[in-house]
Amino acid sequence: MSGNVVDRGLEGVVVGETVLSNVEGQLGRLTYRGYDIHDLAVNATFEEIIHLLLYGHLPTHSELHDLNAKLVEARPLPSAMFAILHALPKDAWPMDVLRTALSALSEFIPHRTDGSHLSDADAAINLIAKTPVIVAAWDRIRRGLEPIAPDPKLRAAANFLWMRSGEKPIHEAEAALDTYLVLLADHSYNASTFSARVTASTNADIYGAITSAVATLAGDLHGGAPSKVMTMLEEIGLPEKAEPYVRELLARGEKIMGMGHREYKIRDPRAEHLERMAKALTEKSHTKWYLIARALEDAADKVLQEVKPGRKIYANVEFYTAPTLSSLGIPSDEFTCMFACGRMAGWCAHVLEQLANNRLIRPQATYIGPDVHPFEPINHRHATPAANGALN
Ligand code: COA
Repeated sequence: MSGNVVDRGLEGVVVGETVLSNVEGQLGRLTYRGYDIHDLAVNATFEEIIHLLLYGHLPTHSELHDLNAKLVEARPLPSAMFAILHALPKDAWPMDVLRTALSALSEFIPHRTDGSHLSDADAAINLIAKTPVIVAAWDRIRRGLEPIAPDPKLRAAANFLWMRSGEKPIHEAEAALDTYLVLLADHSYNASTFSARVTASTNADIYGAITSAVATLAGDLHGGAPSKVMTMLEEIGLPEKAEPYVRELLARGEKIMGMGHREYKIRDPRAEHLERMAKALTEKSHTKWYLIARALEDAADKVLQEVKPGRKIYANVEFYTAPTLSSLGIPSDEFTCMFACGRMAGWCAHVLEQLANNRLIRPQATYIGPDVHPFEPINHRHATPAANGALN
């Protein structure tokens, strides 16, 4: 394999095709099937986006009505799922719980003789409908409260807020969460979507592929960042403390969570809408998180220009997610689960797209281990301590 070019992060490497979404990093543009995210964020509901991604076009009134009916019908969890959730430790991390629950969902669906489950639009709807229901149910179970049944009259965003709190949400809260779900629904071959496609490419079913995706989303270089953004905002405490905080953080060689992006070379287009919602929601709830976040973004720009002239790092989708979701009463350790609620639509559409025109995804690696050498019988071996726990 010598002579091969190694790209450890696959940066700029094209590994497939998709009709679902397009990230144009230099332009700061994101489109779903050709529709600009700026148009979708202010005009479309999450349910319309689900239709767009799964069925290829924005729905008519009657198509949307039919889709809503299917989503509502798919929401209730099997009763054994509550037994699973109740058996988990109350301090289990919500993303771990979501991964376990989504993986377990397939157990309640008949499988084929080879063990796999039907992977089609109905399976996708089952997963998209149940994900926020699982998150809301766990939120209550871990607080020692009884889960609340889904309300068939409410769409996904309002139903989630209802199932968490037992109160019908105000219009602004429902609209903000709906827009959040629209913004997060798809993002081309991001790490979690790529995981889902790799898993599907082996002919594993949609439940396995989605479990891979949820596990991949959890890390803070991907969907795990917003809860760490919230921690930063809490540590900063006041807008005027943002600049010294950034200086110390960068001096320690650490990254500012919620900033920077592999693809976007200018500001993430989704950040504009999340900032708008964070500002409006925190003004209404009289909380300071938006003002601290804004001061942090400004401070990061100023300090980076001093310490790394020419280096521009912008807020990504995770940054204003923190003050937005926090204003909706969602605890910071559930932020990544909310990301999963939106991205479930994209993951499922990508899995179906992969299966429709499949080829096993199997890259190569350059071997850098020892040359071929003789096998040592066990009596002839000597202990060789590993250096600092490294594999050698
Ligand atoms: N804060 C400070 N510096 C940052 C930074 C951040 N958030 N993001 C990138 N940089 C700097 C790196 O330190 C590096 O600097 P150097 O060249 O002087 O060493 C340079 O920018 C390139 O960073 P790198 O991590 O190699 O870029 P990437 O394309 O692999 O990273 C992210 C993309 C998203 C992983 C990265 O920006 C990051 O870790 N951001 C914080 C976590 C986050 O917000 N995750 C959610 C992503 S949607």
